[in-house]
Amino acid sequence: MQAFLETNKDRFLEELFELLRIPSVSTDKKYKTDVIKAANFLKDKLIEAGAENAELCETPGNPIVYADKIVDKDLPTVLVYGHYDVQPADPLDLWKSPPFEPEIRDGKIYARGACDDKGQTYMHVKAFEAMMQNGGVPCNVKFMLEGEEEIGSEHLEWFVKNNKEKIAADIILISDTGIIANDVPAITVGLRGLSYVEVEVTGPNRDLHSGLYGGAVPNPINVLTKMIASLVDENGKITIPGFYDKVAVLSEEERAELAKAPFSLEQFKKDIGLKDIEGEAGFTTPERVSIRPTLDVNGIWGGYMEEGAKTVIASKANAKISMRLVPDQDPDEITELFTKHFVSIAPNSVSVNVTPHHGGIPAVVPTDSVAYQAASKAMETTFGKVPVPIRGGGSIPIVAMFKQELGLDSILMGFGLDSDAIHSPNEHYGVFNFMKGIETIPYFYKYFAEMSTS
Ligand code: BES
Ligand code: MN
Ligand code: MN
Repeated sequence: MQAFLETNKDRFLEELFELLRIPSVSTDKKYKTDVIKAANFLKDKLIEAGAENAELCETPGNPIVYADKIVDKDLPTVLVYGHYDVQPADPLDLWKSPPFEPEIRDGKIYARGACDDKGQTYMHVKAFEAMMQNGGVPCNVKFMLEGEEEIGSEHLEWFVKNNKEKIAADIILISDTGIIANDVPAITVGLRGLSYVEVEVTGPNRDLHSGLYGGAVPNPINVLTKMIASLVDENGKITIPGFYDKVAVLSEEERAELAKAPFSLEQFKKDIGLKDIEGEAGFTTPERVSIRPTLDVNGIWGGYMEEGAKTVIASKANAKISMRLVPDQDPDEITELFTKHFVSIAPNSVSVNVTPHHGGIPAVVPTDSVAYQAASKAMETTFGKVPVPIRGGGSIPIVAMFKQELGLDSILMGFGLDSDAIHSPNEHYGVFNFMKGIETIPYFYKYFAEMSTS
């Protein structure tokens, strides 16, 4: 197997590059044909690798790539989930090489989607090929690769609800998260949820001359920024009444367990160019980005934004606000609490509109399962170290949905690094990580099959 991976490494990379050249940005309709192209590419590669029943399953949105290899109905079945859609590449001028012209610099593949999630999804296709070429798969495998993860997986939920038989499995395997460092493997055992809203504050019925009216009327931008500023207090606590009511409190033992994952605050600051950090009082930086909920403005606009100065009081001001949620917060409930509160703190002089976007339920993965043990042993085999369980700060909303709809847990065995700049300019993925994933995945199948049947 090892020799097979060595011999085929360059071809694996060349194929991944081909996939990375397709700008399958899901949020922008103008890339629709590229989205389909990426789906077809994966379908074809799965067929070449030896998968059966490969098809593009049409949905009202982007297609889901399905393929399987059923070797024995008595063996367990692993359902591999991944996503072939990517985030937009902008701001383009900050990329050192064009986002859809992948290149390797310093052992890293630079391209949009290199890590999130084309690189990680493609590891599964190549790991499958490697197994097929070296004695076959030790259990049944199904692939379900979607093209709408970055826009809320709306139609995946629809697909899952309508295809329970087709995708029936014993465990879901996902590589869309990360490890701590290349010599510190980790398995993600929790993900945050999400509530995302857009707010609009309207003042006067038209833009006004800031000299003729300024001082006597509400300025929607001033009002909005004041309202936003009040949402988080000086201790980093979110001020929305009821916001923390359902936040699961971790025991000291649980916190101590999570604190075992190595972390350097100095390195953390250095990586992102900060002299100092801030966050919720009473919690460490790793805790702030994993087991605690947050509220962040993701975008804010209004008024005059072109070159030069224009003296104007705008009629409207807008912002996009995200709240990362933790167990057992409910996204719909939080969106409602936010809306009520936001409307209540608005002065009478303006009107406020809150529009909810997609949300996501937080997820936790049990560590006492056969699947977790198999994943842990697989990583231990290839890294030479037992992986640390970590809670991820990001969201993969379908993990909670899989549990709800299929009763299945997911194994979040990702190989990325926090420094891979996913969603940012110069996203990259280590060639080491790509190959390590391809090497590790077959061990998961092997151990999962062995441990499930023994
Ligand atoms: N793969 C990421 C999520 C992730 C990355 C989780 C690293 C843990 C570690 C995923 O593609 C993503 O970006 N999810 C979105 C949520 C979605 C609803 C847009 C996110 O977390 O912002
Ligand atoms: Mn992803
Ligand atoms: Mn993403």
